[in-house]
Amino acid sequence: MNAEEVLALAPVVPVVVLDDPDAAVPLARALVAGGLPAIEVTLRTSAALEAIERIAAEVPDAVVGAGTVVRPEDAQRSAAAGARFLVSPGCTASLREGMAATGLPFLPGVSSASEAMALLEHGVTVMKCFPAEASGGIGLLKSLYGPLPQIRFCPTGGITPANAPGYLALPNVACVGGSWLTPADAVQAGDWDRVKALAAEAAALSG
Ligand code: 3PG
Repeated sequence: MNAEEVLALAPVVPVVVLDDPDAAVPLARALVAGGLPAIEVTLRTSAALEAIERIAAEVPDAVVGAGTVVRPEDAQRSAAAGARFLVSPGCTASLREGMAATGLPFLPGVSSASEAMALLEHGVTVMKCFPAEASGGIGLLKSLYGPLPQIRFCPTGGITPANAPGYLALPNVACVGGSWLTPADAVQAGDWDRVKALAAEAAALSG
């Protein structure tokens, strides 16, 4: 699966922060049952790599990826844990090389034309746009489409069910990412029905 194919799985990629590795499998099952198979588990907690490992092993219909990959070693560890794609909030040359070395599809984060062009020079055409809303949102992506129409984006950061359709309507947006599918209180309470319902609403979003 390449990056474009990962982003084509659903209109929304849930961005997940997990403190408890035991929550990983039921949470992933709820997201998949709601219609969102591509799941980004952020490396922001000590539970993240174990969560990725468990989802990869126990939820075959999920396509689990690692997010908040900021160092080359994060990319290697994520790949070893079973991540099937990598997402970073920004990109440096060493991080790009580290992510590419895993052989996994990766979505480096950009928020400007120059950052996008630096990646294009290395053949990268699928990127995360982060932080989407804070960097200009729909206006930024519309502006980038003029000179750089070959790039496909997954905007993340400030996306909501209300503004997602506006993003999804853009020709250079493949899907959006967001954390609203897994509210901290629902995850803590193990309220997987709520997560499934939020996922189902998100899976029905379109531009
Ligand atoms: C990310 O890591 O991509 C963002 O923090 C998710 O942003 P959100 O919480 O605004 O959805």
